[in-house]
Amino acid sequence: MGPRVLRRKLLELSTRSRVFMFGNHKGGVGKTTVVLQLAAALARMGFRILVIDMDPQANLTRRMGLEYDENDPFSTVSEAVKENREGVGAGVVLGVNWNDERTGQPTSEAELIDIIPARFDLINREQEAGAVGAVRRLKKALAGWTSHYDFILIDTRPDLGHLVQLAMAAADEVVLVFEPDYDTVAGAIRMQEFVEEHGEDLGNPELRVGMAFVNRYDRSSEQDYQLAGLPESLKSKLVELDAGGAVVGLGDGGEDYRIPKYIPRIARIKEADGAGVSVSEYRNRKGRETTAIFDRLAEKFVERVIREADAA
Ligand SMILES: Nc1ncnc2c1ncn2[C@@H]1O[C@H](COP(=O)(O)OP(=O)(O)OP(=O)(O)O)[C@@H](O)[C@H]1O
Ligand SMILES: [Mg+2]
Repeated sequence: MGPRVLRRKLLELSTRSRVFMFGNHKGGVGKTTVVLQLAAALARMGFRILVIDMDPQANLTRRMGLEYDENDPFSTVSEAVKENREGVGAGVVLGVNWNDERTGQPTSEAELIDIIPARFDLINREQEAGAVGAVRRLKKALAGWTSHYDFILIDTRPDLGHLVQLAMAAADEVVLVFEPDYDTVAGAIRMQEFVEEHGEDLGNPELRVGMAFVNRYDRSSEQDYQLAGLPESLKSKLVELDAGGAVVGLGDGGEDYRIPKYIPRIARIKEADGAGVSVSEYRNRKGRETTAIFDRLAEKFVERVIREADAA
């Protein structure tokens, strides 16, 4: 299905709350990368996105163009969670600061993406973990004002502590991001088990892992071995970009591009993260290939959401 059809189908569905938490118990696997580039790709499809940075490292915030400056401070998710009041998150939403080099105006992607940013002091919220109901404070902050977003994507830190639990309590679904190596797979499985065991304790008994994205795929035999050995419960959640090696045109009159099965390791992705931009900013051949990968990821993501909503 093309982006337009997907968009129409999604808008016809009645459920409006689609909050996705991206996680892995292990660090550095590409959670933030996937949240950012998926948000950009969904915006290219015309969806309205809210991203939430729940990591005190604030990588997502920086990559979306918001560098915290003491002289020009902005409020963050930390203040919203601390305040512990229904709907308070609305007061800390900012626009994504991606501008078109030529015009200085926000890019078309930026116009459709809002962010609740973070900064390092988010770590202080951990001290409140023991307070009654503290785990529901992010959910409370999001209550009553987010329905105009098609998707809310929450980036998390690599552990299973209070900040991740705040995100779990607020989410409809967990998306695991992992690289097919032993420790990263173990981190994904650990998170899946945690979700299955503790949804109820987090006041979110319906919470489940709905999808798993493979990142930095290099088609090595070790990676294929790890993928083949995944437990069935995780294997069934894998989102394949393309099983059959579909070919897409890149609109440059040159050769077509064969979409890989999973998100590959590509230097452009690292560069985009360093520069704090969407991969679509790179307009050469490699940039367009990388953009096509995330366009496909976004399509597959929306297809899954539609399929599950239809089944429900
Ligand atoms: N597919 C990829 N190809 C090349 N580099 C990648 C890819 N995915 C992620 N990276 C790079 O790997 C590094 C770690 O990625 P990222 O920060 O997204 O991981 P993370 O899981 O969010 O880390 P943390 O656990 O610290 O939050 C970054 O420099 C990022 O640009
Ligand atoms: Mg991160």
